[in-house]
Amino acid sequence: MDVLAVNGSPRRHWNTETVLEHALAGAAQFPDARTESLYLYPMKYSGCIGCYMCKQKGKPSGLCRFEAALTPILEKAQKSDVLLIGTPVYFFTESAGTRAFIERLLYPWSAFHADGYGTRRPKPMMAGLFYTLAGTEESVAEHGHRHFRDSTDQFFSLHFSHHEVLLAYETLHTNTYNKFELN
Ligand SMILES: Cc1cc2nc3c(=O)[nH]c(=O)nc-3n(C[C@H](O)[C@H](O)[C@H](O)COP(=O)(O)O)c2cc1C
Repeated sequence: MDVLAVNGSPRRHWNTETVLEHALAGAAQFPDARTESLYLYPMKYSGCIGCYMCKQKGKPSGLCRFEAALTPILEKAQKSDVLLIGTPVYFFTESAGTRAFIERLLYPWSAFHADGYGTRRPKPMMAGLFYTLAGTEESVAEHGHRHFRDSTDQFFSLHFSHHEVLLAYETLHTNTYNKFELN
């Protein structure tokens, strides 16, 4: 069982990485698990440009071919049995790098039928999406910011055989609060 963790935080060794490390440590307890971590931010890539090359008549592709930099990670993600994605919450959604990765991974799988959405996923896979955020659970509920989680639930349930979403609240912005003005 291949378990791939894709880290969409620009910061190494911080909150998102900690959460993903714990998830991978849990996965590693399964005797057949092979785990790997990849980091998006060292790479230069952008999100989907809507070229529709993945949906060409007669030769649809489950793999985005725009900008080769991301291709090895997209290929690994498609081959994994369990895909774990970690992201900080930025303005109540995924980080831009995570979002770009998700666009490039899932749009080639997306099919639009007359009676609804479908998936062209290459094979059944499970997914976990881990959000880390500085806010409290109460503040997210109070400001009606569940939308990012709800929309993820919708399109992940379409493309993955099973998925879980976990929010890690009240993370640290920094470990030197006396040097910054966050209020
Ligand atoms: C650009 C930016 C936007 C952020 N937006 C939010 C937000 O909308 N809600 C929130 O609770 N925290 C927000 N945060 C805090 C981060 O989500 C939080 O500290 C996260 O755990 C950082 O992950 P990392 O340590 O892996 O980088 C923001 C941080 C940054 C830098």
